Amino acid sequence: MGSDDGPFPRMDPLHWRRRSSLLKPALIILTFLTGCVILYMYADAGIVQGGASPGEYVEVPKTASGMYVDRKVPTLEIAKTVDEEKVLQSCQSHAADSTMIVLVTGAGGFVGYHTSMALHERGTSVLGLDNFNDYYPPTLKRDRQLNLMEAGVHVVDGDLNDQSVLEVIFSVCQFTHVLHLAAQAGVRYAVKNPGAYVHSNVAGFVTLMEVIRAQPSVPVVVFASSSSVYGTNKKTPFSEDDRTDNPASLYAATKKADEMLAHTYNNIYSISMTALRFFTVYGPYGRPDMAYFSFANNIMLDKPIKIFQGPGGIELGRDFTFISDIVAGAIAALDKAAPTGKGAPFKIYNLGNTHPVNVTAFVNTIEHHLGKKAIKKYVPMPATGDVLFTHADVSKAQRELGYTPTTSLSEGIRQFVEWYKVYYKDGQHKEQQEYVPA
Ligand SMILES: NC(=O)c1ccc[n+]([C@@H]2O[C@H](COP(=O)([O-])OP(=O)(O)OC[C@H]3O[C@@H](n4cnc5c(N)ncnc54)[C@H](O)[C@@H]3O)[C@@H](O)[C@H]2O)c1
Repeated sequence: MGSDDGPFPRMDPLHWRRRSSLLKPALIILTFLTGCVILYMYADAGIVQGGASPGEYVEVPKTASGMYVDRKVPTLEIAKTVDEEKVLQSCQSHAADSTMIVLVTGAGGFVGYHTSMALHERGTSVLGLDNFNDYYPPTLKRDRQLNLMEAGVHVVDGDLNDQSVLEVIFSVCQFTHVLHLAAQAGVRYAVKNPGAYVHSNVAGFVTLMEVIRAQPSVPVVVFASSSSVYGTNKKTPFSEDDRTDNPASLYAATKKADEMLAHTYNNIYSISMTALRFFTVYGPYGRPDMAYFSFANNIMLDKPIKIFQGPGGIELGRDFTFISDIVAGAIAALDKAAPTGKGAPFKIYNLGNTHPVNVTAFVNTIEHHLGKKAIKKYVPMPATGDVLFTHADVSKAQRELGYTPTTSLSEGIRQFVEWYKVYYKDGQHKEQQEYVPA
């Protein structure tokens, strides 16, 4: 090596060419792999943590099949401000008359709205939480929120996955009970947007439970499961002792996951946990993505309605349960739940109506109360995970909670139609009435 080599040895040009011929493909492979990792991280963030602004549609390639799906990603709104004064007022609204303070998640939703209102009306202090996502028109959720606000129940605008929001509201209110109803509902939509179900029903459930278990005084938890956990079960009526390890839809799988997570939190932290398996709930201020609601919309707008049929033309049957019966069952579950602590139970109850009817009979009842005929189109049921028949055995809920559904289908539909006609009178809420479920 001569003195002018400097600190680096002089490279033999041939040797360099040989090495560079190996380096080039290596660099290309490295760049490709880095690109894949970055793409993967973005896609993953889109599913669980949210890579888009709230409610935004993002196109994300679906994994193995290469198909593309539209993913409406409910996302976190980090550092959302919580009005602590309103939170405190809401959970102290009946503090003198009641020892119960309940956090109702999903209070902007159908069941959450009615249950919050009923709890408040009987003198229980309630605070609500909802992310007001646009799975169905959020204006309906905001109308429910407005009614609750006028009654004195505050609903915090926040996501279950936003731990900071949860921590603030738990630090302001000493909840004795949590009624956890917030979820991504709907069987068919799970085919289009599975990530939304993982986000709310699995990740959201765990985030909430982690905040709950860290409280100095750990509340009792009652949460919404679903009749859909019975999946492909053929034995009817469905009993809590039946197998539920054969879900027919991704929605059902996430609800079953909630039950299993609940068992875990009960086992490790002795949290009193109760799962309520609701059977097709309907009523005023109901969910526009559900069949009875879109049937009513289509009948009023002179559009045909699709009635699904199973193999061999058989009709679907559902154990339709009126909202006030579900509310009574949920409140009884809160009242009867054993306290959290050593030996606290994990309970499961069916809340249904016990009188399943086929969908044509259901439509006939809606027609009767609307005073208008439907244009019925019978179509084969798409393979999206709907089950053919549901029928609840509610004897356990009857025995332990005093649950007795009292509203007949005709009376329930009458009350729904009465509300529907007023709510949509004179073209009000037109965009909701024209909403077509995803
Ligand atoms: N209605 C039924 O027929 C039925 C049947 C079986 C089970 N359930 C279950 O009962 C519960 C209530 O159902 P519903 O009919 O009132 O549905 P809903 O969609 O009207 O109410 C759910 C509410 O939760 C909110 N939400 C969703 N994800 C959230 C999140 N990550 N953070 C905060 N809020 C979130 C939504 O905005 C919505 O307002 C759900 O858990 C549902 O799965 C309902």
